[in-house]
Amino acid sequence: MKKLYIETYGCQMNVADSEVVAAILSDEYEITHAQEEADLILINTCSVRDNAEQRIRKRLRELKSYKNKKEHLKIGLLGCMAERIKERLLDEESTLDFIAGPDAYRSLPRLISESSYKQPAFDVMLSTTETYDEIEPVRCDTNGVSAFISIMRGCNNFCTYCVVPYTRGRERSRNPQTILREAQTALDNGYKEVTLLGQNVNSYHWEDETGKVTNFAQLMALVAQLSPQLRVRFATSHPKDISDELIETIARYPNLCKYIHLPVQAGSNTMLKRMNRVYTREYYLDRIATIRRLIPDCAIATDIIAGFCGETEEDHQATLSLMREVGYDYAYMFKYSVREGTMAAKKFEDDVPDEVKSRRLEEIIALQQELSYQSNLKDVGKSFEILVEGVSKRSDKQLFGRNSQNKVIIFDCGNHQKGDYVTVTVTDCTAATLMGVER
Ligand code: 5AD
Ligand code: SF4
Repeated sequence: MKKLYIETYGCQMNVADSEVVAAILSDEYEITHAQEEADLILINTCSVRDNAEQRIRKRLRELKSYKNKKEHLKIGLLGCMAERIKERLLDEESTLDFIAGPDAYRSLPRLISESSYKQPAFDVMLSTTETYDEIEPVRCDTNGVSAFISIMRGCNNFCTYCVVPYTRGRERSRNPQTILREAQTALDNGYKEVTLLGQNVNSYHWEDETGKVTNFAQLMALVAQLSPQLRVRFATSHPKDISDELIETIARYPNLCKYIHLPVQAGSNTMLKRMNRVYTREYYLDRIATIRRLIPDCAIATDIIAGFCGETEEDHQATLSLMREVGYDYAYMFKYSVREGTMAAKKFEDDVPDEVKSRRLEEIIALQQELSYQSNLKDVGKSFEILVEGVSKRSDKQLFGRNSQNKVIIFDCGNHQKGDYVTVTVTDCTAATLMGVER
């Protein structure tokens, strides 16, 4: 068997895709975690912000000199950046033997055999139907406890700042039967948690031959019923599509995790409109109120962009006040980065100076630190069932795991190991972690 080394950048979807790629190539290649051993190196890329692409380009420059020393090594580029820059990349990055976009992974065996250093190959065709449905992923970069399952691909939302609809194409859902089979296999292999993935899982929609429809809430219920020992998470959701039915379903099943990632992006209606988010601040807050009413112990996380086109100081203050109003438990926060080809790049001016973007982002991060700390303080004295994921970085006498709310809790090992469920009482916290003792 030849050896394959895969490096994955970007979101969880990419992690799941790399596992599909490993499966597609598994007749010829087995995974290695050591680059020196590799006959084939694949870089699965992200285009969501310019700094993601810059990091990858730096890595490709490093690989160029490495490749000069290795006669038979092939290097291929996968994912969103392959799709965005297409064959132009082959001229720009002479390190590459081939590139394959997110819907072209079934052609990898052919691309690999056809390509050579001097004659690179590429396939960046997007598909309206490809879901890699029946492919059982080869779990490569996991802790053996938590597995990703991709349930749909692509995105139809066209938020004006976002490159994803262009790199990942149109939205399509995967057959629920194959999703359930994949979750069952994970369970049979000792996994205790699955995360159902899609760019906007709330619009999951499957119609079988008889016309019977499965929506996302129903899919979650089906996965939850596989075993009470299996925790189920999902990422990510668009606020416009988060239904009461879904919130009620999460409330109903104890093993559906009480954690909802609901990216708001901005707090003012002017910005939301310019971003084409199609909801208002008021609508978003109403969704949050429904979550709080139906699932009182639910953690809520978000994504926020600082300094989008035309953002005024007042708009920025609206983002801060919305963050306070919701009291997010966690947030992913970014500076706006223009992406070529998007509506925003075409229609609006990137007119917020970089220093202003940076200062606003810092204010957002500082506020979230405070909110996360407040949220964690409320947990001191409470007990949680946590799923152990591994040994703590700080001490090998301590383990860490997550509670249903997705918060990391560190505690003394006792007789426990990875994959155990342990009930822990929180004794102390920082803004980032909870410390606890076994109850
Ligand atoms: N600039 C900055 N952040 C972006 N995101 C998506 N596109 C951009 C962009 N052009 C953020 C959004 C999204 C997350 C995955 O990345 O917050 O939810
Ligand atoms: Fe990056 Fe978005 Fe592509 Fe994921 S889908 S890799 S976040 S651009």
